[in-house]
Amino acid sequence: MHQVTVPIRDAPYQVLIGSGILDQAHGFLAGRPADSPVAVVADANVAERYAGEVRDGVTAAGRKACLLLVPPGESSKNLSELERLYDGFASIPLDRRSTVAAVGGGVIGDLAGFAAATYLRGLDLVQIPTTLLAQVDASIGGKTGVNLLQGKNLVGAFHQPRLVVADVATLRTLPPRELRSGLAEVIKYGVIADPALLEQLASERDAIQRAQPEAVEGLVVRSCQIKAEVVAADERETGRRAILNFGHTLAHALEAATVYHEYLHGEAVAIGMVAAARLSCRLSGMSPEVSRQLEELLRSYDLPVALRTPVDPARLMEAARRDKKARGGALTFVLARSPGDVDLFQVDESRVLEVLEELMP
Ligand code: NAD
Ligand code: GLY
Repeated sequence: MHQVTVPIRDAPYQVLIGSGILDQAHGFLAGRPADSPVAVVADANVAERYAGEVRDGVTAAGRKACLLLVPPGESSKNLSELERLYDGFASIPLDRRSTVAAVGGGVIGDLAGFAAATYLRGLDLVQIPTTLLAQVDASIGGKTGVNLLQGKNLVGAFHQPRLVVADVATLRTLPPRELRSGLAEVIKYGVIADPALLEQLASERDAIQRAQPEAVEGLVVRSCQIKAEVVAADERETGRRAILNFGHTLAHALEAATVYHEYLHGEAVAIGMVAAARLSCRLSGMSPEVSRQLEELLRSYDLPVALRTPVDPARLMEAARRDKKARGGALTFVLARSPGDVDLFQVDESRVLEVLEELMP
């Protein structure tokens, strides 16, 4: 088992990464006050396979644990599902020493994490990510929240978990499209921080696509190390942490403009990274060859490199303007000079529209 520390100042925590390690989560949860209950939150795809095991492990160790279910998918990351969770917490009932355990992908982690951040003014949270995307990104760093129809993640809070348990064995049941979606975030880490990771993604493609535990475990460990380092340096995203959003300015706009139905998050990020790379060639000195290689890598993992169906550019720009990082008439983009060398840039909307036109079907 690997351990990555997220060394934030007030409450550093561990990310445990390995195969068949869900019992680490029961062990931790059972070790908290035995007379206060645990809420295990999961969606139906994960409940029987993994969340039930977590609940039963905690119960067997003598702490009450209840399973609360959320319908699968991005459209559950909303205020009404949040309210349903609060109702569930109240009927258990949770108390101030209770723990919320989020078992599942980034949707469950963000939603249950926000419920934990806000119920009784904040409860302990344990993240047990079961998608690649959540293991490499969403479960770490404390961003929690829900979407509004007007935009992605517009309501939320920073709420760091006490522990993250990433069991890569759970990825064996993950649909291939979801695995690819997570790989988009791994490719992002390569671009923002680690060119060697891009080479590894290119050379170990077969093993990675078959979700071979050794190949995937290495990617999860490296991604977590990068994220932990960035988050520890800027927990509340007052500056540098924003580099984690490479490809996300347009991705979030695309998800909102297509009402969270057409693209998985990682797929939208893949298209957003193509746009960011093309803007980087125009505005931050990235060589066209690097941009072409990035597109080739995304394509080799069957990730989209252009929009699948037309979207009204005005609608996309409207959604992009609601991005939390937008300022005045310009949009904030993370652009790269070369892999590993990225910064924030204010980009005029007209430049974004030029690139969007290239990416329309
Ligand atoms: P998701 O949570 O919807 O999970 C994808 C699908 O896989 C779901 O249908 C789920 O039921 C299923 N699933 C999960 N684990 C499974 C398993 N082991 N076997 C079989 N099926 C399984 O999606 P996601 O891609 O994990 O997360 C996307 C969300 O994460 C987005 O809302 C995005 O905004 C958010 N996110 C948050 C952060 C953050 O820092 N908080 C970072 C990146 C992304
Ligand atoms: N996924 C971006 C962040 O955690 O900051």
